[in-house]
Amino acid sequence: MADKKRSSFGSRFGTIAVLAGSAVGLGNIWKFPYMAGENGGAAFILIYLIVSLLIAVPVLLAEYALGRRGQSNIFGAFRNLAPKQKGWHAVGLTGVVTAFLILSFYAVIAGWSLYFLWESVTGSYMGMSAQQIGAKFDTFVEGGWGPAIWALIFLVMTGGVLLLGVNKGIERCSKMMMPMLVVMLVALAVGACFMDGWREGMRFLLRPDWSKVTTSTVIAALGQAFFSLSLGMGAMATYGSYIDKKENLYGVASTVAVADTAVALLAGLAIFPVVFTYGISPTAGPELVFITLPSLFAQMPGGAVVAAVFFLLLFFAAITSAFSMMEVVVAYLSEEFGMSRTKAMWLSLGGLLVLAMLCVASQLPDSVLTIGGKNLLDFLDTFTSNVLLPLSGLSIVIFMAWVLGRKALADELTTGGRYARRLVGPTIFLLRYVVPLMMVVLILNLLGVL
Ligand code: PFF
Repeated sequence: MADKKRSSFGSRFGTIAVLAGSAVGLGNIWKFPYMAGENGGAAFILIYLIVSLLIAVPVLLAEYALGRRGQSNIFGAFRNLAPKQKGWHAVGLTGVVTAFLILSFYAVIAGWSLYFLWESVTGSYMGMSAQQIGAKFDTFVEGGWGPAIWALIFLVMTGGVLLLGVNKGIERCSKMMMPMLVVMLVALAVGACFMDGWREGMRFLLRPDWSKVTTSTVIAALGQAFFSLSLGMGAMATYGSYIDKKENLYGVASTVAVADTAVALLAGLAIFPVVFTYGISPTAGPELVFITLPSLFAQMPGGAVVAAVFFLLLFFAAITSAFSMMEVVVAYLSEEFGMSRTKAMWLSLGGLLVLAMLCVASQLPDSVLTIGGKNLLDFLDTFTSNVLLPLSGLSIVIFMAWVLGRKALADELTTGGRYARRLVGPTIFLLRYVVPLMMVVLILNLLGVL
């Protein structure tokens, strides 16, 4: 099973589109701009860049190397590289479970963006006030059926693309969607330059304010870089197994990281001028994207078109990330249990739908689906980002840096000695010492110990 001939991405551009497609997601569009604005603007951006370069990009390289070396799904990769050490296989399994859990609630939020895309195209909320849109959103979420149907549509679309395969499905779609996403985002950012609130928006996003920078800023930047580059759940490792054996991993990883950061910055350039033009204070989380922005679009001249473009790009960002999460599960089921991709897809889709529906139900008023005082959706979000992702990220790094062996790691990172030979020493040093130390600090902080 494990040595069955695997697909690999067809071209350099295809490889970048698919990998950047996974990285660029909901996290870039609403979370990064807000975090930057709140945490000292350019000061946060600078810290984010340093943390990305020294920590996140080495982990990204380690995940790609794990997948490409192991030539398998995340579980199979550990099994192929450490056949006798069963403990590591469990790390692979944790990755599969994490991907499954994250996708189940990610699909619900992605469903909200599909709903808003639909509502923008039909123009149904144009002219409404912020309160009216807030009430409309609450009724939608608490109504249950709407979110359930949109999450179902989103998951079925994701599954449908996976059914077409790695090249004809994931790669072909990403090659179309990612350039369109960039064009739409650039258009919105350019349009935003002509708005009255542009200066103030830029000041909020870019003015360096070092007084806001504390240890927790660095930790927040690290957590964000991890989530944004899709690290810690085997998505990058699974995709890594499809990277051509001759491809330069350093070139790929740095392009993906630059593209991911550029999209996050562009999202800020597009969003904040709008927010400040209408004199609204920017808020975090779903509210910014699903209440504040729609209510601003509702007042803007030509707002329906801007809104449709914005939610279409949000949908593209979400679905290309969802491909990578579902692929973790589908590749695992099909390769480890010898089932066809079709069967593996239906099985994953069935499971995901059940959990996604539970997430939707947990948001109904008086729902009993709560864990530790949080509704199921919020619980899964916190539990996966604060516990599962950092722990499996740390395990992957320890495996690659300490267990696999320096020679094998260096060989994979340099593509058999072909590229970046001078960078491999510093990379292994970072992976062995700096990254694990920072990850432990991150985990202790997330657990509230530090
Ligand atoms: N990187 C995605 C984002 O920024 O929204 C989220 C994500 C996708 C996380 C895929 C993990 C993953 F495997």
